Amino acid sequence: MKGLVLAGGTGSRLRPITFSMAKQLIPIANKPIIEYGLEHLADAGVLDVGVVVSPETGGAIRKAVSEPARRLGLELAFIVQGEPLGLAHALRTALPFVDGDDCLMYLGDNLVKRGITEVVTEFERERPNCQVMLSRVANPSAFGVAELADDGAIRHLVEKPIDPPSDLALVGVYLFDATIAEAVESIEPSPRGEYEITDAIQYLIDTGRSVRASIVTDWWKDTGTREDLLAAQRLVIAEVAHDVQGEVTGSRIEGGVHVGAGARVIDSTLRGPVVIGDGAEIVRSTIGPETSIGARCRIIGGGVEGSIVMEDSCIEGWRISASIVGRGASLHGDPPEGIVTVMLGDQSEIAGP
Ligand code: TTP
Repeated sequence: MKGLVLAGGTGSRLRPITFSMAKQLIPIANKPIIEYGLEHLADAGVLDVGVVVSPETGGAIRKAVSEPARRLGLELAFIVQGEPLGLAHALRTALPFVDGDDCLMYLGDNLVKRGITEVVTEFERERPNCQVMLSRVANPSAFGVAELADDGAIRHLVEKPIDPPSDLALVGVYLFDATIAEAVESIEPSPRGEYEITDAIQYLIDTGRSVRASIVTDWWKDTGTREDLLAAQRLVIAEVAHDVQGEVTGSRIEGGVHVGAGARVIDSTLRGPVVIGDGAEIVRSTIGPETSIGARCRIIGGGVEGSIVMEDSCIEGWRISASIVGRGASLHGDPPEGIVTVMLGDQSEIAGP
């Protein structure tokens, strides 16, 4: 079976962060989102993996995943999708790589708690033409949604419906046999101009192919928006092991905290779960809970809770919550009253209220 990780797209809902970085490289608990997916593929024994990338961010993704791929024993091929014309278009672009094999397609911005080993085993045992995973969500209009028949078979799939037929959203992990090639080559673009994977799977249903669904009850997160990213981090960071490698002086630590090598925490409070990257410096500050601070960041006299602060950023005096701060960004000058929420792109600066 070939793996296919979709890491192209535009990430427009995560601007300004995605003006300068691929959505799939945004760190969750200081690890790029895409790395969690690669780990799941390796765990499931899917080692021959194509990564679909855009021309703009392909180089950065290739650079970021090469070391983890080597560690995980994955053989990666990179497939450039010239334009982000939809998930089915990404799969169509990758058909020469898939080359008639079974294929496990994994959206590079998705996080699945329990991994995918079980669904791969089920697919190989039952041999349907397609196997999808469904999860109950509160806001089905934001997803591909499935309508099931009484016997549990999928009757109908619809992409981002205004009037959803159920609360069962398609998780971003799909398994296909070779018949998917015919489907992605037969469908037309949807009204929003994309080749939808839901339409390709609907094509399989309409042409009498077997499409199985399993319902996942553990958490699953699509990380398309700031709220989604922070929710995903809340789930992941709760499981990070307590491990203090750096120096902690005159500080209070509550709960599970990871302090990376060479980091210094001085006269501060860390309220776990918290992850502090290598070489970061935290002085007279309160960090956490549910917060990641990237490598080499400096937080001086500040407060950060429920946020993602990426590497090399600097926060002086400001107190932020539910925020995402890009790489090498800076918040300094006269801080505003109280706690604020910011979404700051790479290398950006706010120098006062
Ligand atoms: P989406 O989140 O559906 O699309 P997007 O990345 O374009 O984001 P936005 O809607 O905010 O503009 O994509 C899901 C995953 O699939 C994500 O990892 C990007 C990837 N993808 C491709 O590889 N090619 C594509 O043509 C599209 C649309 C997405």
